[in-house]
Amino acid sequence: MKSKGIGKSHAKIILIGEHSVVYGQPAIALPLPNVAEKVTILPRTDGHRLIHSSYFDGDLNGLPDKMHGVAKLIQTLVDHLDGNRDYWDLTIDSDLPAERGMGSSAATAIALVRAFFDYYQKPLDRQLLLRLAAVEEEITHRSPSGLDAATAASSSPLWFVRGKVGTPIPMHLQATMVIADTGIAGATREAVTAVHHLLEESPTKTHACLDQLGLLTRQAQSALQLNEVAKLGKILLAAHHELQRLQVSDQKLDQLVEVAMANGALGAKLTGGGRGGCMFALVKTSAQARHLAAALISAGARKTWLQPLR
Ligand code: MEV
Repeated sequence: MKSKGIGKSHAKIILIGEHSVVYGQPAIALPLPNVAEKVTILPRTDGHRLIHSSYFDGDLNGLPDKMHGVAKLIQTLVDHLDGNRDYWDLTIDSDLPAERGMGSSAATAIALVRAFFDYYQKPLDRQLLLRLAAVEEEITHRSPSGLDAATAASSSPLWFVRGKVGTPIPMHLQATMVIADTGIAGATREAVTAVHHLLEESPTKTHACLDQLGLLTRQAQSALQLNEVAKLGKILLAAHHELQRLQVSDQKLDQLVEVAMANGALGAKLTGGGRGGCMFALVKTSAQARHLAAALISAGARKTWLQPLR
């Protein structure tokens, strides 16, 4: 056992393919390395296991219901690594906003698994990392497809199909992404359930939307590789319209997409589960990105992030 265990991860953003990925279509997600999470484990000798985070500070046994997935994952890791007689301080430092479609629960799960394996100096491959992270994600259930955890564990853009670990894909794009937080907590679980109901009520129309999102995702992959920024922008906006048809957007997301398009964006869409959470827009230069970020804030966005795409 080391004197300190460290695990890192980062936010992710779904470029395209949210919701349709749940039904077998591909999705593309991008890591946001600048929006980071770190878990640190330090030994204690007094018989306590303490958690320190912005949401909770106290004994592991007192974790609130909302963090039940984290508690279950920690117990799984302790059992797996034979650490039942060990005590520690575990600190979670996160730049990620919770419930905004940036994968905060998955980022915590990935950083936790990495920190425990680092602490116990055990090798960890990607498959085991994702299998363990799924213990938390299955309870918190923000990403039934596993897309969030797969991207939080990846340092490259990822082509993801449900049930697989994901394949890194090349990206040659001279563009900047402006991400904006609506300030409203996203409701992924409700949105995923709404799509499920829609499929039962209007199967033909809903399947057509999901198929179209799959097609747009394939087109986006080729635009990413060929640096076709304007084309990618149109694909992203078309995907937002399909997500509107699936009833997973809301007024604020639609308004910010409109503001982005009126302020020079080549395309814009919601990202993640929808019904709150974040949207993003694509522009060519960082000067345009700064202008757009200011316009989004004036229109009521809570916060913006700029992510150059290279
Ligand atoms: C949530 O980040 C993405 C969704 O597609 C759900 C999932 O993939 O499990 C809405």
